[in-house]
Amino acid sequence: MQIPSGPAAPGRTRVYRAHIFHIAGTPAQQEVASHLVSLPDGALVVDADGRVAWIGDFASLPAEHVDAPVTRADYLLPGFVDGHVHYPQSYATAAHGGGQLLEWLEHCIFPTEGQFADPDFAHRAARYFTRRRIAAGTTAAMVFGSAFPVAQDALYEETLKAGLRVVSGRGVQTVGPAAASALLTGEKEAISMVADEIDRWHAVDTGDPRTARVQVGIVPRFSLSVTRQTLAAMGELYDEARGKGVYFHSHLNENNRKGDGEIAAVLGAYGTQTYLDTYDGRFEEGSKVGGSSLLGRRSTLAHAVHCQPEELARMAETGTSIAHCPTSQLFLGSGTMPWRATVASGVNVSLGTDIGAGDEWLISRVAGDCYKVHISEPGDDGTALHPAELLFAATLAGARALDMEHAFGNFDPGKDADFLLIDKALWEPLDGMLTMGIRSDDEEQATLEELFTLLVGLRQPAIAGVYVQGRETIAPEL
Ligand code: GUN
Ligand code: ZN
Repeated sequence: MQIPSGPAAPGRTRVYRAHIFHIAGTPAQQEVASHLVSLPDGALVVDADGRVAWIGDFASLPAEHVDAPVTRADYLLPGFVDGHVHYPQSYATAAHGGGQLLEWLEHCIFPTEGQFADPDFAHRAARYFTRRRIAAGTTAAMVFGSAFPVAQDALYEETLKAGLRVVSGRGVQTVGPAAASALLTGEKEAISMVADEIDRWHAVDTGDPRTARVQVGIVPRFSLSVTRQTLAAMGELYDEARGKGVYFHSHLNENNRKGDGEIAAVLGAYGTQTYLDTYDGRFEEGSKVGGSSLLGRRSTLAHAVHCQPEELARMAETGTSIAHCPTSQLFLGSGTMPWRATVASGVNVSLGTDIGAGDEWLISRVAGDCYKVHISEPGDDGTALHPAELLFAATLAGARALDMEHAFGNFDPGKDADFLLIDKALWEPLDGMLTMGIRSDDEEQATLEELFTLLVGLRQPAIAGVYVQGRETIAPEL
């Protein structure tokens, strides 16, 4: 197969001068505030291969870099990581008339996803999706894929050409209502299509899952769209593929409307003690073991709004991450994930747009919704998230969820330079907030206020450049 080549490597060392924020090191979630780095006149030095060679105050730039070309911006942040975004729902944001999760899937989502069977439609959608990602500064993402291999091929091709990172896998459905019929396959076919996608695309660019920009996962839509037989076969496939760095991704505990929503339906269909058990090999009646677990460091479950304590403990124990999607949870009336209890369990929490139940592509806006919903939790559960926690959730926690923290997520020297340039003048309200907004006299507090305003006030027009491995990404024409 001909692998599309992306943007060329920088070819020489370059300096990016701006107010730089990042979360340095590898902190636990509860320690991120002490790992926040703010360099008001900072320099990020990117070497010829696109790696971070040096970071610090511009005034202290080492002599060996003083002749390197300098690009200026107002702010420089690590690239955003979207922990959960549905590519075949690219055109389905802000769809009215669906109701909550199960009705919305039937009325709005299964029909829109069926359109991706058409190769022309799918290619256009892949270009659109890639454009949306670049506009939103989403340098890395866990992308819930289309049921149709032709659409998945288009996604990987466009991602490589643009120079972005992706983990994806076809959305698997072996059972479902009539509205989903175009998306269903037989049991054997489902597994062989996933195995084929792994063979053709996993780490296709470098051959090494620690460095690859394109990687593949096993992605059942959710337990209700598959059977015990599918989950058992996925466990067998994962036993073979896990060592190659293949991922697992699905939904968990999203909606429990009046006891007849998704969670009640899963527990009713499987007879397990918890929803998580269905992904943990314990999918037989009474949570008896029926196959291999799909949990682990390369597994992310979206939502996890209504978890039992033992489910959180098991995710933490196995290194499974949560993709928290507050914008989507507002849109579908799914409720609010209890922030403190979830984080206290030790599970890693990244952020996801959950396009199209989420109606916003920009991860920093999802961080803003995250702030709003958790300050509004009732009683003592309400919490005002620290600006560093928001930055962490939008960047390094996402890299951790993808098990790629060694490669990106912050500007520790030696990592790939995945970053965003932000120019506040490109969006007047951001300029207004950052230039004229009131700030504390205390310098440290003023810095936190500035970061909060930057993250919550940012809008897409102010993103002036999106870089992966030091290469500027290229948006395809529609
Ligand atoms: N659960 C199963 N499928 C979906 C989906 O497409 N979106 C969301 N938000 N939840 C799901
Ligand atoms: Zn989703």
